[in-house]
Amino acid sequence: ADYDLAIRGGTVVTAGDSVRADIGIRDGRIVALGDAITGATREVDATDLLVMPGGIDSHVHIEQPSGPGIVMADDFESATRAALAGGNTFVMPFALQERGKSLRAAVEDYKASAEGRCHIDTAFHLIISDPTPQVLGQELPALVKDGYTSFKVFMTYDDLVLSDRELLEVFDVARRERALVMVHCEGYDAIRFMTERLEKAGQTEPYYHGASRPQVVEREAAHRAISHAQLVDVPIMIVHVSGREAMEQVKWAQDRGFKVYGETCTQYITLTEDDMKGLNMDMSGSKYVCSPPPRDEASQDAIWEGIQQGVFQTFSSDHCPFRYEGSDGKQNPKAKTSFRWVPNGIPGVETRLPVFFSEGVSKGRITAEQFVALTSTNHARMYGLYPRKGSIGVGFDADITLWDPTCKRTIHQSDMQHGADYTPWEGFEVTGWPVMVIANGKIAMDDGKILTEPGQGQVVERDISPFAAAP
Ligand code: URP
Ligand code: ZN
Ligand code: ZN
Ligand code: ZN
Repeated sequence: ADYDLAIRGGTVVTAGDSVRADIGIRDGRIVALGDAITGATREVDATDLLVMPGGIDSHVHIEQPSGPGIVMADDFESATRAALAGGNTFVMPFALQERGKSLRAAVEDYKASAEGRCHIDTAFHLIISDPTPQVLGQELPALVKDGYTSFKVFMTYDDLVLSDRELLEVFDVARRERALVMVHCEGYDAIRFMTERLEKAGQTEPYYHGASRPQVVEREAAHRAISHAQLVDVPIMIVHVSGREAMEQVKWAQDRGFKVYGETCTQYITLTEDDMKGLNMDMSGSKYVCSPPPRDEASQDAIWEGIQQGVFQTFSSDHCPFRYEGSDGKQNPKAKTSFRWVPNGIPGVETRLPVFFSEGVSKGRITAEQFVALTSTNHARMYGLYPRKGSIGVGFDADITLWDPTCKRTIHQSDMQHGADYTPWEGFEVTGWPVMVIANGKIAMDDGKILTEPGQGQVVERDISPFAAAP
C-alpha cells in the first residue's frame, strides 16, 4: 500500500485556512494531501468532521512537588492519557529546580519519571528557582543546547519567587542563549500583605484567595516584568493572563513594539471568583483555587477581546491537578485553617479544547482557524516544535484530531481520564468534541477509547524559539 493510513472526506483546518482534502500518512508522517487519496492499509472516514492538528498544551504541571504532604493528582501516565482523551497530541510540562539543588539534576529526574510512561509526546520547560552563578553560567547554557529552550520564572510563591535582580539575571541569560522566558506575574510582597490582612480579619475561606491577589497585583508584576525585559532587551511570554489589567499591559508593550507575548487559559473565560465561594463559603470553593484566580464576567470579556485582537498567542490549560477528597490535596489539614494553604491549581488538560471550541467557535467568537492557531500551531511555533508539529501539511508529523463540531456533550467527572477526583467544569455543556486522535500516524484515541500504551509518547528535544532573542 502507498499509505499506512488515509483520512478521507473531512475538512482540513489549519491556522491559515480550511479546505476539503484527504490526507495520506506513512511512517508517522503526513506524506500527501489531495482530492482522492486511495491505496491505504487503513482508511478513516472523516465526513462531516473537522480535521485539525492535534492539540498542543504548552502549560501543564505534572508530578511537581507542591509542599509537604501535598501530592499532585496526575503522574505522567494519567496526565498524558487525559490529554489524549481531550484531543491533544503533545503537552509541555515543567522540570522544576528546587532551591539548593542543581537544575540539571532536576531535569534528569523529571525525564526519568516521564520516559516509558507517556501516551503522547512531551517536552519540558525548566522552572528556575535558584539562579546561582553555576546555574546561570553553566547549567542553563548547556540545557538550552540540549533542547530545553524555554524556562519559567515566578514573581511569587515562597519557594519559587525571584528577586528583581534575579529576574534580570535570568532574562540576560535567556537573551544570550536565545531561550524564551515564561513569566508568572503576581507580586509577592503585595500578596503577603493582603493575605495577612485577610487572615487577621478572620477571612480565611477559599473565596478570599481571590481577594489576596486582585488584578492590580497581577498588573503591577506584569508591568515590572515587561520593564525588566525592555531593560535587558529580551522577549518574554506572560503566562496565564486572567483579566483586563494584565491583558492591557501585554497590549501596551506590543503596541510599542516590544516582544512581549501572552497566554491565557480556560479558567479565565469560564470561571469567576464566585466559584470559589463554593456552597455557602465551604471548602468546595477550593476546587477553583488557582493563580492568578478567576476574576469576573467583565474580565472574561476582556480576555475574549485579547484573544480576538491577537494579544494572546497561546491558549493553554495550566493543568495543575489536586484531589478534593483526602488530606493530600485541596482539603489538607492546614487548608481548612486558611486559603493560603490551599494548593494552587486546577485540572484542565482534558477539557481545554472542548470548552474553548464550544465557547469560541460554536458561539461565533473566533473562527476554527483561530482555534487551531491558539491551541496548536502557535504553541509549536513559540516553543521550537515547528514545522515538525502544529499543523497539517506534507512533512509534518501525523498528529491529527478529528473533531465533530456539532456533537453536544455535558462534561462529567465520571467520564474523565485525569487523576483528579473532580472537574471544575462539572455539568458544563459543550458543542463540539474530539472523536479521534492520531498521534505520530497511529490511531491513539477512538471515540473516547485510549488505544495507546504508556511509553508510546516520547520526550522530545525542541529547537530554539523563533520568537526568542535574535542571534
Ligand atoms: O495555580 C496555579 N496556576 N498553579 C500552577 C502553577 C502556576 O503558577 O502556573
Ligand atoms: Zn504560573
Ligand atoms: Zn502553571
Ligand atoms: Zn456529572
